[in-house]
Amino acid sequence: MSFPKDFLWGGAVAANQWEGAWDVDGRGPAKTDVTTGGTVNTPRYITYIDKDGNPGKVMQFGKIPEGAKFAVLEDYHYPNHNAVDGYHHYKEDVALMAEMGFKQFRTSISWSRLYPTGLEKEPNKEGVEFYRNLFTELKTHGIEPLVTLWHFDTPLYIEQNLGDWKNRDTIELFVRYVTTCFTEFKGLVHNWLTFNEINNTIQFLDMMGNPSDKDFQDSYQHLHYQFVASAKAVQIGHAIDPTNRIGCMICGITWYPATCDPNDILANRHAWERNIFYCGDVQCKGEYGTYAKRLWKEHNVNLDITEEDLADLKRGTVDMYTFSYYMSQLVTTHEVKEKVGGNFSAGAKNEYLQYSDWGWATDATGLQYYLETIYDRYQIPLMVVENGLGAFDTVEADGSIHDDYRIDYYRPHIQAMSNAIDNGVDLIGYTTWGCIDVVSAGTGEMRKRYGFIYVDMDDEGNGTMARSRKDSFFWYKKVIESNGTHLD
Ligand code: BG6
Repeated sequence: MSFPKDFLWGGAVAANQWEGAWDVDGRGPAKTDVTTGGTVNTPRYITYIDKDGNPGKVMQFGKIPEGAKFAVLEDYHYPNHNAVDGYHHYKEDVALMAEMGFKQFRTSISWSRLYPTGLEKEPNKEGVEFYRNLFTELKTHGIEPLVTLWHFDTPLYIEQNLGDWKNRDTIELFVRYVTTCFTEFKGLVHNWLTFNEINNTIQFLDMMGNPSDKDFQDSYQHLHYQFVASAKAVQIGHAIDPTNRIGCMICGITWYPATCDPNDILANRHAWERNIFYCGDVQCKGEYGTYAKRLWKEHNVNLDITEEDLADLKRGTVDMYTFSYYMSQLVTTHEVKEKVGGNFSAGAKNEYLQYSDWGWATDATGLQYYLETIYDRYQIPLMVVENGLGAFDTVEADGSIHDDYRIDYYRPHIQAMSNAIDNGVDLIGYTTWGCIDVVSAGTGEMRKRYGFIYVDMDDEGNGTMARSRKDSFFWYKKVIESNGTHLD
């Protein structure tokens, strides 16, 4: 097995799914705080008060009506409010990660913890202090923080009043926020990611049903402003500390043609361009791919792109390509017999693969395929910053949790990374998703668990929040100890 000796083994969470403390110490709300819990069959909802004062809700990817205001309503459970209370348990959680031998821990900074509305001129001191304490705690245990600057959580005020990323002004507010992050945490954090799963904005369109050309226009514009914000963040991060390594973060799904019909082969190529390369090319190469014009034309998209934006994109290319990987998807031009979803994407069912209880395909070979494809395209270091299995866990009477299904998921994925390294891929790190159980982003559930560390908390928010070790905890510890050679 071929993992380099300084390979960055670890785990990942996001602020809004781990920290909780949504209104503590001056934090302002984010969109996740007005998003209810759901299940595998029922959506999460965003709640609001309409212009006549009536409460209402729309599905997670829908739009609230004209004139409505986002609102926390009685009678709904908002799982991200308390999440698993990482805010107050971080010392204990970091100690458990250190016990597993983590070299790296990925989390995000909650923008609204530092800038409650996003508009303040100075950051919230208590917010800064929390992250400084967290990063110091990690360093004390020999764990490098890997920090995402935006993980689906713009301050709600910006969403409500400025229209989020549809508004160019959001770029400057983001610049203020990231400048604070790079300045305040200089020396503590060296590895940064700008936008989590930035390409989801395109994939979300597939979840909307029948998106209009206006929806495409808005999404591509939103992405362009995020690209500029990301490129500016890279430049600022490098200027403040030249040792900073800054990456993009793409929702990595391996797309396959469902048949060998040449039309499916072409459709698959176009799926890679739209879903994967569109963002990677801008962030790694500093310019839009040639196919971008076709994508825009298909939906009459006309973007606000200035000369200065293009110069920024060129100057702000990333140092590494990082991505999440859970599954592959099938593309076809033929009638789809059975549709499947998973990680904010939709495709056709693949009869060669097994599916999880949440309908996500398990495909370790797809990870090797993705790694080799992407490295060949960009030739910069890669990190897999999310990978894992969301599953039900059972706590035995003695408190033990036998999650061999999780180990069975990880083993071939780690083997796939090893194969890719053998084939020349410069893979430098791996952080499994939800190394400690957190609130699911897609369904808002707790019972969709990914962790090596179990958290006693249910879907309704009942539980002691006590942490305990699953069987996979001891297994992953051995994997790290042996630098990926001990997988049994
Ligand atoms: C990724 C996100 O989409 O997948 C995470 O970056 C998310 O925030 C993870 O939690 C797993 O998805 P889910 O819906 O199972 O939580």
